[in-house]
Amino acid sequence: MSTERGFTIVRSNTFRADGAPPEGLTDARLGRIVRLLSDNATLVISGTRIAEELGTTRSEVWRAIEHLRELGVRITGHPAEGYQLESVADLLLPDIVGPLVKGTIFGSQIRHFFRIGSTNSTAMNSAAEDEAEGTVFFAEQQVAGRGRGGNTWDSAPSDGIYCSVILRPRLSPADALLLSLIAGLAVTEAVQGTTGLHPDLRWPNDVLIEEKKFCGILTEMNAEATRVRYVVVGIGINVNQASFPPELEPIATSLRIAGGHEWSRVQLAAALLKSLDAWYRKLTSGGDDVRDEIFREFEERSSFARARLVHVDEEGGYEGVTEGLDDHGFLRVRTDRGVRTVFSGGVRAVAGHER
Ligand code: BTN
Repeated sequence: MSTERGFTIVRSNTFRADGAPPEGLTDARLGRIVRLLSDNATLVISGTRIAEELGTTRSEVWRAIEHLRELGVRITGHPAEGYQLESVADLLLPDIVGPLVKGTIFGSQIRHFFRIGSTNSTAMNSAAEDEAEGTVFFAEQQVAGRGRGGNTWDSAPSDGIYCSVILRPRLSPADALLLSLIAGLAVTEAVQGTTGLHPDLRWPNDVLIEEKKFCGILTEMNAEATRVRYVVVGIGINVNQASFPPELEPIATSLRIAGGHEWSRVQLAAALLKSLDAWYRKLTSGGDDVRDEIFREFEERSSFARARLVHVDEEGGYEGVTEGLDDHGFLRVRTDRGVRTVFSGGVRAVAGHER
């Protein structure tokens, strides 16, 4: 537990010795109860009132409260005297995050899972079944989190933000990389605004602090040759991890490690969706100047964009000095064989050239 800007953050440890959390979409009543208790944080709320508000019975409320407790939400009281939330629950429930992102394209369809395989896989399947643009998928834990290049993404329960969004942009597939770039910009803006830390973007969209990665973005697309059908942008942010396994420790960090204390995932997730919404509206409202603005902003927020000696893990691997982005957002690298364009990522600072 820690205190940040007046919030007491209680981390809901959903990974319990007495049983794994349920898979599947979270029961909406759980979120509504947490919302009701959060809105009346200083009050004890009777079971009867909660039952009335939810249009259910007191015994159903009691069962739901027990379920929330099993999931780690700290609620005091019992049916006879009513219930009270011990502190703000830092769960990415629709009823908690939704009101904070009202007015954005992400305000109306938020799906929450205590446990899921991968939010990206679920979002891609839902998009294929015509799920609306702007639908957000949050999970407290992923058991098959996916990274770029077929890697896995370590998704410890309730430590990180695991989030995927469905977009249906009117863009050519050739410009899909712009979506990855704005997602990286949205993360850096949200993190800086929420924590005061200064993240660094490594092309195309790893987000680092002090040369260690705390956020990865996996953008997946279904497209025809000339038209994007839908895109899923999946964002994983290490927020409150206290440590990492030895194999990740040299390259991974979290905002908690970087900032010295825990952060509210709810505040950060809301800031992220707001910033992504603003960039997405800008991008899809058209105009060549938008593209320039994205590239300019990327270069300002990335120590990797220019004049950095990097190793590129592509075409057998090569080294060179970065020279900014081309018209579609691909990274240009000057090598002894001329300027080359990096297509698939895998860029890292050459040892001894970290900043
Ligand atoms: C990377 O390799 O850097 C990309 C990691 C992306 C991880 C996120 S977590 C939410 C979403 N669901 C997934 O399975 N992957 C992405």
